Amino acid sequence: MQLTHRPVISSTGLFTPEESITNEELVASFNTFVDRHNAQNAAAIESGEMEPLSHSSVEFIEKASGIKARHVMSKEPVLNPETMSPRWQERTNDELSMMAEIGVAAAKQALERAGRDVKDVDAVLCAASNMERPYPAMAVEIQQALGIDGFGFDMNVACSSATFGIQPAADYVRAGNAKSVLVVSPEITSGHLNWRDRDSHFIFGDVATAVLVEDAAIAPQNHWDILSTKLKTVFSNNIRNNFGFLNRAAPENANEADKLFVQEGRKVFKEVVPMVAQMIVDEAEKLQMDPATLRRLWLHQANAGMNRLIAQRVLGHEANDDESPTVLDIYGNTSSAGSIIAFHLNSEDLASGDTGLICSFGAGYSAGTVFVRKVA
Ligand code: COA
Repeated sequence: MQLTHRPVISSTGLFTPEESITNEELVASFNTFVDRHNAQNAAAIESGEMEPLSHSSVEFIEKASGIKARHVMSKEPVLNPETMSPRWQERTNDELSMMAEIGVAAAKQALERAGRDVKDVDAVLCAASNMERPYPAMAVEIQQALGIDGFGFDMNVACSSATFGIQPAADYVRAGNAKSVLVVSPEITSGHLNWRDRDSHFIFGDVATAVLVEDAAIAPQNHWDILSTKLKTVFSNNIRNNFGFLNRAAPENANEADKLFVQEGRKVFKEVVPMVAQMIVDEAEKLQMDPATLRRLWLHQANAGMNRLIAQRVLGHEANDDESPTVLDIYGNTSSAGSIIAFHLNSEDLASGDTGLICSFGAGYSAGTVFVRKVA
């Protein structure tokens, strides 16, 4: 007899750092840094050798991105005009790593919400845009901290990491290789952000999410059927970070700024919106679904304008907050965790049978869609 395994989302979990930075706080610190920098380099600026730096503005940030605040793991050093980047104590090998710590917090919440005992979990995928170290894998450390007997590995597809993690998790379930898989996305994006770069200093925030993908046979009564998963990548240099272990061999005068997040924001906006909207419409067609009937879109949280346009193309009308909720205002861009936060905070009110879409997009370029239907 052929046994079929049907993957579903049993639950999600969210860890939010206590500290948060408002646009007002961020801009005040950035502008102090700019004034100090320009004063220190007054002679070079006067002689035309150096361009002065320009002030950032709260109005620009909110209008261009929809972001009003972001949570961070280390607030004071980010706002200190002398450091302008997070600082934390290096942990010993005997201590739980920072990414593992917040990943475990999100995972525990997902397990609790599903009523799942760790002895029934088979695998942990740590899917995030940056890893704290190359090895041992963060996923294996999270697995150990949770007490899971199984396997784990790390994967990085930038802002699409979480949806790219859901697909293999669902495939393990379909193939009968696992019944319960945690996809954990600890995103400490404050570490890869150039807080001295006016064009991008306002973009990111820190958070961790977890998604529990399981065989319907063991899932709690309240769950989400996974109707389809679709992944796509198209190479682009428009969002890039050159940090890596080979940089240790770079000469002293190597470019430092490109070892952090850099992007051509306008190009990203123009190129990614049509790619993602088309991908969603094509996948809906394959599912013989009118995309306009999707009850809710949980889109990647990078920019409110991008989401407005994508939702408009998918639904055929301007989406309201109920159809396409945003968490950008308080979380900023949390890389791959963004669409999962949107789902976690805005899904309980849907009725049984309602369909929705979790969708991510970002560097690579990469994009992932997960069509879901609420059960019970
Ligand atoms: N404060 C004030 N002015 C600023 C500023 C700031 N913090 N940052 C840039 N500006 C200025 C620019 O210098 C530019 O001035 P100019 O017109 O005199 O040249 C003007 O504002 C417009 O800048 P631009 O970079 O073109 O803004 P934008 O409207 O494209 O918005 C982003 C910038 C990043 C918010 C937007 O491009 C975006 O979100 N793109 C997609 C990003 C994305 O999703 N990335 C994926 C990462 S996961």
